[in-house]
Amino acid sequence: MKVLLVNGSRRENGCTYTALTEIEKELKAGGIDTEILNAGNMAAKGNVDEAVKQAAEIMKTADGMIVGSPVYYASPSGEIMMFLDRLFSSAGADLRCKPAAAIASARRAGTTATLDVLNKYFLYNEMPLIASRYWNMVHGSKPEDVLKDEEGVQIMHTLGRNMVWALKSIEAGRAAGVEQPVTEEKVYTSFIR
Ligand SMILES: Cc1cc2nc3c(=O)[nH]c(=O)nc-3n(C[C@H](O)[C@H](O)[C@H](O)COP(=O)(O)O)c2cc1C
Repeated sequence: MKVLLVNGSRRENGCTYTALTEIEKELKAGGIDTEILNAGNMAAKGNVDEAVKQAAEIMKTADGMIVGSPVYYASPSGEIMMFLDRLFSSAGADLRCKPAAAIASARRAGTTATLDVLNKYFLYNEMPLIASRYWNMVHGSKPEDVLKDEEGVQIMHTLGRNMVWALKSIEAGRAAGVEQPVTEEKVYTSFIR
């Protein structure tokens, strides 16, 4: 089984990346393969279409997804929003019903507003949200700050273990004959007419 970890920061090895690698440790310890995609950096360089293409290809076979973003003006980065808008509108079918989580990295504030925005992509697409024991956030301006945020690091580790548990539970259910729910054709209503 495999989880795609998406770094929504322009900084390839910054705080968001550091938090994702803490989650990755627990995923690997649980026997889950991982891949980190630096979508934020690619988008900042004008390569958002390539980032979406790579993520869509990985998610055809990957079993779960974790999206991380730095907090910019109390919101997710513009780069991750551009990436997610495009990924979910073009590859939603390959993401559907796969467990997911969002994490946020901030110097100080804006984390819960950021998580709220990111979680809505998953909720729109029938993706079970994986929880930790607090909101999924770390604090810092530099990677070493994140590692000093002991509570934040513990939250990332717990999230990683909970993702392993969810993936193995879904796999066990599938082996026991529990099928993914069949999707219905979507009903669209207009509040104007
Ligand atoms: C454009 C910009 C806006 C930011 N806005 C916020 C903010 O609203 N709240 C906050 O706590 N930190 C803010 N920060 C700081 C980053 O969120 C923080 O340093 C984060 O951990 C950086 O993660 P990264 O190293 O993965 O990019 C901002 C940084 C930038 C570059």
